[in-house]
Parts: sequence; structure tokens; C-alpha cells
Amino acid sequence: MTTNERINKIVDILLVSNSVTALTGAGVSAESGIATFRDPDGIWSKFNPLELASIDGFISNPERVWSWYQYRVNIVNNSKPNPGHYALAEFHKYNLDFNLITQNVDGLHQRAGSENVIELHGSIIRNKCFNCNQIHEGAVINGNLLNNCKRCNGLIRPDVIWFGEMLPESEINTAQKLSSNTDLFFSIGTSAEVYPAADLPLIAKSNGAILIEINPVKTQLSNFADIRIELTSGKAMPLIIEEYKKRVE
Ligand code: APR
Repeated sequence: MTTNERINKIVDILLVSNSVTALTGAGVSAESGIATFRDPDGIWSKFNPLELASIDGFISNPERVWSWYQYRVNIVNNSKPNPGHYALAEFHKYNLDFNLITQNVDGLHQRAGSENVIELHGSIIRNKCFNCNQIHEGAVINGNLLNNCKRCNGLIRPDVIWFGEMLPESEINTAQKLSSNTDLFFSIGTSAEVYPAADLPLIAKSNGAILIEINPVKTQLSNFADIRIELTSGKAMPLIIEEYKKRVE
């Protein structure tokens, strides 16, 4: 099948679907200039995740972890949503029961207009106390001093899920529930290597959903996908939503 035929097939399925679920990964933000993690020039090819995205790394050197997260926050603050984010935000406008689950921590889906985004791995633009989990508003670094929690004086940390940490219970439970009860599941811009997020497309498929993968590169999920679009999300998602709008309007 040509890409066009695949796009039309996906829209045929959208038109008869009541519920649609999308899981996104770092690939969706690549066209906004935010590096992915496992691509050849990805984040983990330059930085050590155990030093920068783990509890031990933070305890042993909170300043190093904070300067890395400040570097990433600056990139995010200077980035903008791309056509892939905006296309996904359009799905909410139609009477599809559409739910968006993301592994991304950059908040670009929300900035593109997506609602009720389920953030499995937290948010890089939100901070919390390492001890008591109190959300911390305002600056974390004053000069070269780290602020401490106003409530318990604990260290402030980014509100993201680090390696070895459990995902937020309500988010992952909701994501699993949605995935087990959806007609159509999109896996977009993710290597499908990190669990439990990587389980979601398989949960959907084993409960009867049609599985679509949007990724220019094959992943370990590709063989399970009913349809694959080997384009970037910034190209594929607008093509899908535009064809869908043509058919419904
Ligand atoms: N459009 C769609 N997909 C893309 C694009 C693009 N423009 N650019 C790259 N990709 C694909 C790559 O082919 C790869 O399969 O996006 C995927 C990105 O994979 P990863 O870098 O592993 O990112 P992700 O799957 O989101 O990682 C999951 O791992 O390190 C943790 O917490 C981190 O949330 C992250 C999790």
C-alpha cells in the first residue's frame, strides 16, 4: 500500500471508531527542535541517564542534575509545538472519544491545545519537593543556591519520573484502562522500549483495537502494527486529520 492508501485506510477506520487513543513519545517533539533520547544523536548518546535522571544521581550531585534540567527547560521554553502537536489537538474537536497519553515532559501538547493530556513521565516545567512531594512554584535556583521546600526544607527536584521510579499511579491506571477499551490506538514517535508505557499498544491490540504506528524508523512494536506510516509525525498527523476533516465536514 502507498502512504496515501494507508492514510485513507486509517481515516476509514477513524470514521467507524467510537474511541481513539494516542500514545506519544519524544519523536513527536523532534520537529520542534527537542532531541529524542535513543536516536543516534539522542540525549542518551551525550548524557549519562544514571547521573542525570535517577534518584542516586540527584542525591550525589543535585547541582549537576539541576543545571542539566535548566538546560533542557531553556530548550523547551524556546521551542514551539509543531504541526504534529497541532494535528493531535484537532482530534478533540470531533465527536471521537479521543484520549492523549504522552511520555513527553515538555508540555508541547498542552501548548498546542490538547486537553486532559495524561503525562506518564511527569513534566519538566513543574518542580516538587524530593521529600514531601509538595509542588514548588517559582524559581529553584537563586544565584548558585538551590531553594529548599518551604514546608519541610527538603530538596526541590524536577517533577519527572526518573529511571527506577514508579509512574504516577492514577496516570498509568487511567492509561491502561483507556488502552484496554479503545477502538483505535496510535503509537506515535516512540521507540516503544520503555515500560510500562510500551505495554499500552499491546494492551490495546490484545483487547481488539486496531494498532497504528507513526514512526520513520521501525521499532520493536512495528510487527504488531496493523498499519505503519513511515513519515515523521509532523507530516503524517496533519495528513490524517485533514483527510478525516474532508470526510466528516
Ligand atoms: N516523528 C515521529 N517519530 C520520530 C521522529 C519524528 N519527527 N523523530 C524520531 N522519531 C522516532 C524515532 O525513530 C524513535 O523511534 O521517535 C522515537 C523516539 O524514541 P526515544 O528517543 O526512545 O523516545 P521515547 O520512546 O519517547 O522514550 C521513552 O524513555 O528515556 C526515557 O523518559 C524517557 O519518556 C522517555 C522514554
